[in-house]
Amino acid sequence: MGTNGVPLIQLQDVHKKLGGREILRGVTLDVRDGETLVVIGRSGTGKSVTLKTLIGLLHPDKGRIIIQGRDVTGLPEREYAEVRRLFGVLFQSGALINWLSVAENVALPLREHTTKSEEEIQAIVADKLKLLELTHARDLMPSEISGGMKKRAGLARALVLGPKVILYDEPTSGLDPVMSSQINELVNRMKREVGVTSILVTHDMESAYSVGDRIAMLYEGRIIFIGSPDEAKNTEDEVVHQFVRGLLEGPITDALRKEEGLGAQPRESEDGPGDEFGSDETPRPKTRRTDTIPIKRRPKLWAVFRCANPGCQKPAREGPVATPPTCCEKPMVEI
Ligand SMILES: Nc1ncnc2c1ncn2[C@@H]1O[C@H](COP(=O)(O)OP(=O)(O)O)[C@@H](O)[C@H]1O
Ligand SMILES: [Mg+2]
Repeated sequence: MGTNGVPLIQLQDVHKKLGGREILRGVTLDVRDGETLVVIGRSGTGKSVTLKTLIGLLHPDKGRIIIQGRDVTGLPEREYAEVRRLFGVLFQSGALINWLSVAENVALPLREHTTKSEEEIQAIVADKLKLLELTHARDLMPSEISGGMKKRAGLARALVLGPKVILYDEPTSGLDPVMSSQINELVNRMKREVGVTSILVTHDMESAYSVGDRIAMLYEGRIIFIGSPDEAKNTEDEVVHQFVRGLLEGPITDALRKEEGLGAQPRESEDGPGDEFGSDETPRPKTRRTDTIPIKRRPKLWAVFRCANPGCQKPAREGPVATPPTCCEKPMVEI
């Protein structure tokens, strides 16, 4: 909660349709000042769309977004650009610009959004690079650094404008377990040392448990669970249970099979005939451990793009991935 008891961020019954499908179907979620809130959910379920809607890169079809007590839903782009300054975003792709050095990537938001002198910019950049242990990499190009360093450079860039909230989109995806632990530790450090509020989107439960004050699960367009990591581990909700344990069988895979037209397979029960007696304490289905839940992948056809020209002030735009929209006579860059 904020000092006046109002949550820092509120999503109220947010709906969003994309490509003819209703992706968000009534997302309601509060984010408290100073917490790390983790949003979990299957790939393709709308986690990134939720973040993009929050920061006004996408606009809800219905529902409200309230930030620091102010309803920002549908604000014109110019005003939303101001709201966006509260947020530092570490996008899934890292989104470093390939032809700029690490230091220049980090300096970019300062050059775009402030009138600071070169000396001030260099000082802030040096400070953030130090915080993220990247001082040695300042003059390297993105192609010359590891995946973990790219994420750290992306985070340094997300921090330069002194955001109140950091949004992390799948910060550990594509990283090995050691690097993932380093990123988790970094998220915790940002909270401890910088005092930011964080929203972290992931399907990596290890990461969720190691950084989350609370965990919320997005499923079929809504938040179906929110609670502490312990509550997530011990939940009776079968959907959340299947997801957080990474179980092969359960309601998520049943629904997937149905969607794929294969019909739900009967699930084996480890607990004998319990189900047949219709007890309130329905025994959990027999479960096998697996690393991941099988995920139905849909090719991504549509995305949000920003101008490739760092100085350009025009807003982000949606467009097909195959033929990105152009701005300033260049193809725009996916975010
Ligand atoms: N701009 C868009 N236009 C059409 N469909 C989109 C767009 N952005 C995302 N989607 C679709 O919305 C769904 C949710 O996407 P996303 O939020 O990226 O999922 P995730 O939970 O993996 O982050 C996916 O099926 C994706 O293909
Ligand atoms: Mg995503």
